[in-house]
Amino acid sequence: MLSLRDIALPFPLALTLMMAPPAAAEGPDSSSAGRPMRPAAVTQGAPGDKVRTPLIVGGTPAGPADNPFQVGLLLKSKPGNFEARFCGGALIAPDVVVTAAHCSYHQPTLDGPRLALRPEEVQVLTGTRNLNQGGSRWDVVSIVNHPNYNSAGNHDYDVAVWKLRQRVEGVPLAQLAISDGVPGSELLVTGWGATTEGGEESAILLKVSVPVVSHDACSAVDSGITPRMLCAGFKVGGKDACQGDSGGPATRGRGNMTLTGIVSTGEGCAQPNHYGVYTRVSDPSIRDFIRENMNSGAGRIGAEGP
Ligand code: ARG
Repeated sequence: MLSLRDIALPFPLALTLMMAPPAAAEGPDSSSAGRPMRPAAVTQGAPGDKVRTPLIVGGTPAGPADNPFQVGLLLKSKPGNFEARFCGGALIAPDVVVTAAHCSYHQPTLDGPRLALRPEEVQVLTGTRNLNQGGSRWDVVSIVNHPNYNSAGNHDYDVAVWKLRQRVEGVPLAQLAISDGVPGSELLVTGWGATTEGGEESAILLKVSVPVVSHDACSAVDSGITPRMLCAGFKVGGKDACQGDSGGPATRGRGNMTLTGIVSTGEGCAQPNHYGVYTRVSDPSIRDFIRENMNSGAGRIGAEGP
């Protein structure tokens, strides 16, 4: 049963792909405002612990070609990207980010109310895969959640479109899936989320490949699975997205350029007999929502892919 507590909101932000040995910084970094350095990968030790141990199962650092359209969602008030980041997203047009609707809310205190984030409170990070180095921050002008988003229950319709004030040039764009892979085919999932259930987030973008699971197989183990959801993972567990990865891309197709799922929810992380649950981009109600909102500005062209 998926419950509210399986969705972590921007605070406490920890998300997660299982894994992550420390990696060297990579990618063209355009700026770095002398922010405090954080460990590239942290263990489950005390916050600020400088120990780097590749103790996580399941993932590895993402290379430049792995989901190159991955962005980070940031709280504008926090100067350091590591502290500021709370979710992932994917660029599908130079000024349009697709993410999870639950990323548009935050919960300042553990059991407090969830508050809708305003565009002026957030930014989007591009241009780096290392939260301690470089990258560019972009202002957001609008946040639109799917009108049917079920925030109180199973997180059905967990999709949102964030529009940027300016266009980001030079970043490859994801295309929207019109079909899912067959069960067993791989999805490439990336994120800066937690590397173990309940564990620390990663400063280095991590990736993991997980097989698509049929709706029936997923419904057999997890309740509340709807046609707007796509499950992926291993029956034995061990590889999965986790808290903080939400909103980020699960891709397939040529060059993994097709956004097929959006990290949404799951029972814990990487548990046996449970799967990761992704918002299913190929569902017409999800795709149409994204396309209508990305096209609502002047002179836009819809993205479409296999
Ligand atoms: N809801 C989580 C977040 O806000 C993502 C959970 C994904 N869980 C999973 N087992 N795949 O980051």
